[in-house]
Amino acid sequence: MCGIIGYIGGKNCVPILIEGLKRLEYRGYDSAGVGLIENNTPVVIKKKGRVAELENKISKLKIDSSVGIAHTRWATHGEPNEVNAHPHVNKDSTIFLVHNGIIENFNELRTDLQNKGFEFRSETDSEVLVQLIDFFMGKDVSLFDAVRYAMNMVKGTYGIAIASTHVPEKIIVARKGSPLVIGLGNGENFIASDVNAIISYTSSIVYLDDGEIACVQKDSFEVKNIDDELIEKEIQQVKISIDSISKGNYAHFMLKEIMEQPVSVKNSFRGRLLFEEGSSKLGGLQGFETRIANSNRILICACGTSWHAGLVAEYMIEQYAGIPVEVEYASEFRYRNPIITADDTCIFISQSGETADTLAAMKEAKRRGALVLGVCNVVGSSIARESHAGVYIHAGPEIGVASTKAFTSQLVVLALITILIARTKHLSLVDGQNILRELDKIPSKIQQILDNHAKIEKIAEEFIDSKNFLYLGRGYNFPVALEGALKLKEISYIHAEGYPAAEMKHGPIALIDKNMPAVFISPVDSVYEKVLSNIEEVKARKGRIIAIATEDDNYIDKIVDYVIKVPNTIRMLMPILTVIPLQLLAYHIAVKKGLNVDQPRNLAKSVTVE
Ligand code: F6R
Repeated sequence: MCGIIGYIGGKNCVPILIEGLKRLEYRGYDSAGVGLIENNTPVVIKKKGRVAELENKISKLKIDSSVGIAHTRWATHGEPNEVNAHPHVNKDSTIFLVHNGIIENFNELRTDLQNKGFEFRSETDSEVLVQLIDFFMGKDVSLFDAVRYAMNMVKGTYGIAIASTHVPEKIIVARKGSPLVIGLGNGENFIASDVNAIISYTSSIVYLDDGEIACVQKDSFEVKNIDDELIEKEIQQVKISIDSISKGNYAHFMLKEIMEQPVSVKNSFRGRLLFEEGSSKLGGLQGFETRIANSNRILICACGTSWHAGLVAEYMIEQYAGIPVEVEYASEFRYRNPIITADDTCIFISQSGETADTLAAMKEAKRRGALVLGVCNVVGSSIARESHAGVYIHAGPEIGVASTKAFTSQLVVLALITILIARTKHLSLVDGQNILRELDKIPSKIQQILDNHAKIEKIAEEFIDSKNFLYLGRGYNFPVALEGALKLKEISYIHAEGYPAAEMKHGPIALIDKNMPAVFISPVDSVYEKVLSNIEEVKARKGRIIAIATEDDNYIDKIVDYVIKVPNTIRMLMPILTVIPLQLLAYHIAVKKGLNVDQPRNLAKSVTVE
């Protein structure tokens, strides 16, 4: 979950590392640090808190260094403070290391090293790595080999970068389970845990795979495996515009990403709608269509918001393709004994493509012979690369910690997958064409909702002192209720629960009183009348009701306290519209409470540890 960046070349790397850390801050923001080599002298500077505070500290020191590594931390072992911040150093500060991941056997290794006389300063699992490398270097081993030997001994996950005054012309990086890339420049090279951190300097990227270790110098790089065998790596050209990773004129990335949805959703289906055939074109699934359509069962695995997208897909696929679907939390799937056969298709949904639980669940399903598909946003991410086939959602970089545009783009891609499968089964040409026409209209309908932004902001004002919220929906809109509740709790710290509206009577109704706001997602659809009855039940108990309703529904205005209207569409696509007001509601409540919506407490964008 932490962010890593490094530089080796001819320039002063301090501004490069600081800019990179700022771009990575969404991955962890409780402390940050840099390790530099200046005139062959090690310089390690750390600071608790945001990168801006580290920048402040460094700017007073006027350092000029052309090799350095840096890190922004999301604490796992040891509280956020300067000692626990990275880089960690060996006893004479000649080797420094930054780490993303978790070393599971750190206790055992630490005891062993302590018995050999090594002294530890921090409470982190990461420090054991630098001490272990120091131990091997003491045996007259090169830095590269010392890292390789250390990799052989540790259990767990890591993306690491190491620099040393013993070999100031090299940075060594290694990966197992946590992403690491090398960016190639002219007389300079970069390393990072995330391409976004270095994309303003280079678009030539080498993705390290698990078990690989690389020696990066200013004019060259070399990748080997743990057995010291050379590996030929492909250099990929990655296209990410700087605008897409900048806030522009928006106050927050989250708001920018909410507002971008007419475009991001369009990008998700651009060139993929086959109107004549009433089907979709998904290059990443080419050759796998029949196998997917003939699956006994489709299993969808994901975490958080992506899991909610999976729940919507369950309704879509079962309704249109008639294949039984199960949706699982990736974290649960990997620790039971799942019954998976070669006749199953497993879809793994992940914005980042790096979520540790989702990646591990994918590997498990693959091991058991299933066809594994990835639905990812980040191009070249681990889940995208590990899958047999897959579809990118093309939402563009999502920096705000609360996922917004990725969710709507996931829904678009899952709808396209549904159409593709369904057209090989029972979905008629006319019905397929109708879905495509509706999908094509979604961006302008999202824009219509966004144009109503001021009204949603006003409603938010009324709820900033609420302590709890209920979100209720049925059918396709039940997962939207879950997503609305998740958005609110993660950025406003208001406790919120999502429920299927009819389940309310089985317990949560006890919570309803005049202080309990209930958000009903109640478009006019096949369960509309039933949801109206649930609304009456809350009303009878004096709950305050906000309804997300369809534009032609005038009745609902009479029975609820606040109504936010959305345009009409077919049921399967309705969640793409109904979720937008909920994103804005959560955003405005959090902003009005004075909270940092882009970096909510305790969270990090991409959960690369279990
Ligand atoms: C919520 C949120 C998280 C992620 C979850 C999975 O706003 O962002 O719940 O959805 O951590 O992340 P990915 O999709 O990257 O696997």
